[in-house]
Amino acid sequence: MKFGIVTDLHYSTKESACTTRRPNKSLEKLKISLENMKEADLIVCLGDLVDDCGDESENLRCISDLMQVIRSCGKPFYCIPGNHDCTNFNKEYFYSLTGCPKLPYVLSGDTHDVIFIDACFAADGSEYRPGKVNWTDTDLDKVQMESLKSILDSDDKKPLAVMLHQCLDPNVEHRHLLHSAGLLREMLEKSGKVDTVIEGHYHPGADNVINGIHYLTLPAMCELDNIPFTVIDL
Ligand SMILES: [Fe+2]
Repeated sequence: MKFGIVTDLHYSTKESACTTRRPNKSLEKLKISLENMKEADLIVCLGDLVDDCGDESENLRCISDLMQVIRSCGKPFYCIPGNHDCTNFNKEYFYSLTGCPKLPYVLSGDTHDVIFIDACFAADGSEYRPGKVNWTDTDLDKVQMESLKSILDSDDKKPLAVMLHQCLDPNVEHRHLLHSAGLLREMLEKSGKVDTVIEGHYHPGADNVINGIHYLTLPAMCELDNIPFTVIDL
């Protein structure tokens, strides 16, 4: 099954304080990336669809515009909440706006089962929500940690891929890593089932193989005039 993947659109009508970001170009860039991912069976966004416009109705308009473009390609869509999505919307609202299933979620591909996990939680287990987002304080909550363990421990022999917004690859700048990144890498390695991790959040991107697992950090769409996307067979 071909997964067409984008990340970190940060779509907003407000200019970013970060001079390398072009959040207002992301809607057009998304259209171009979808045009170029015609072979994809489904579309995934690894999070941070939107950035804060500073106005609730404008924030709503931005995510609605994105969803209209995504729906117009007629393919199933899956997304992971990112820290910026949680700055704008509580998670239930985010899921209802995007029509995506609540995480953790397992999707059965042709060659892999793909696990989508949500690290928009602080170390104390509290869920990110508007007014309560600290992007450097990121982890899985206990419920997801347990469900990930039980998937990794199951007798199912199908290879696994993991998708998340924040990072497990220790080569990216460390504030982008989950607190449990080291423990999680160890769990994935020990299971012997996981060969692929696909993540976003670290805008320059990265591509590394560590102890037999390929960690692909997809570059952010909001940066400069870049239009990064990838199509991966899983
Ligand atoms: Fe992010």
